Amino acid sequence: MLELKNISFQVPAGGADREIVRNVSLTIPDRKLVVVTGPNGGGKSTLAKLIAGIEKPTEGRVFFQGEDITDLSITDRARRGIAFAFQQPVRFKGIRVLDLIRIAAGTSLSAADACVYLSAVGLCARDYVDREVNASLSGGELKRIEIATVLARKAGLSVFDEPEAGIDLWSFRNLIEVFERMREEIRDSSILIISHQERILNIADEIIVLKDGAVQKQGSREEVYPELIGDAVSGTMRECEGRTRALGMEAGDRC
Ligand SMILES: Nc1ncnc2c1ncn2[C@@H]1O[C@H](COP(=O)(O)OP(=O)(O)OP(=O)(O)O)[C@@H](O)[C@H]1O
Ligand SMILES: [Mg+2]
Repeated sequence: MLELKNISFQVPAGGADREIVRNVSLTIPDRKLVVVTGPNGGGKSTLAKLIAGIEKPTEGRVFFQGEDITDLSITDRARRGIAFAFQQPVRFKGIRVLDLIRIAAGTSLSAADACVYLSAVGLCARDYVDREVNASLSGGELKRIEIATVLARKAGLSVFDEPEAGIDLWSFRNLIEVFERMREEIRDSSILIISHQERILNIADEIIVLKDGAVQKQGSREEVYPELIGDAVSGTMRECEGRTRALGMEAGDRC
């Protein structure tokens, strides 16, 4: 279980500090798939980085399996069982895909075993195990390899930041199945996915909406999802009506 208690994060911005995460308290319980969603710039990736230890909070504490991990490094948090797939994965010159998956799994997996993880994200494994994780990989390939490494970690907490970004429709369908399978198999672990995708929101046990750095809504999918869809539809209609007026069009005309 992961617990964030009153987490705030400020960055220096032109003389004054800007608070991009504001007093966030939340829990990611064991055996749950939690999805964090919300508008662009709302602080989701920053929150994921605060969990993984890439950023340190200005205020508040982070607890994992009951231990205060606020002052632990990225490596120590990874050792405790936190795995993180970046929104924009990094490339590693000179490292093969197979090596990366072996490092993630923490064992000398056979190529065949590593291929299981690559196949899970829709890659034809044989074509990829010996490729270098360098600039020759496309954005979508890199993203899927990164997700495969998190699957191979079998971590206590797996965090995926916008796993859908840059992934084609076919691989995305596959990915949803992977998450659903992960969710069925989770025992003492939990999954946190940051996403804007309805299909991912649809498989969540709990949904957290982060807006302007603060938790706006938090609850079960049954509670939050209908409100979220309602807000999105009425927001679009409001925007549409405003634009119709601004263009001097009649209500009902297409904007
Ligand atoms: N190190 C930083 N210095 C200054 N501003 C930052 C820093 N990191 C993030 N921000 C700003 O904080 C806000 C939140 O960024 P963040 O990447 O967490 O948003 P997000 O919710 O993940 O958005 P998206 O949906 O577009 O991925 C943005 O306005 C971003 O520009
Ligand atoms: Mg983000």
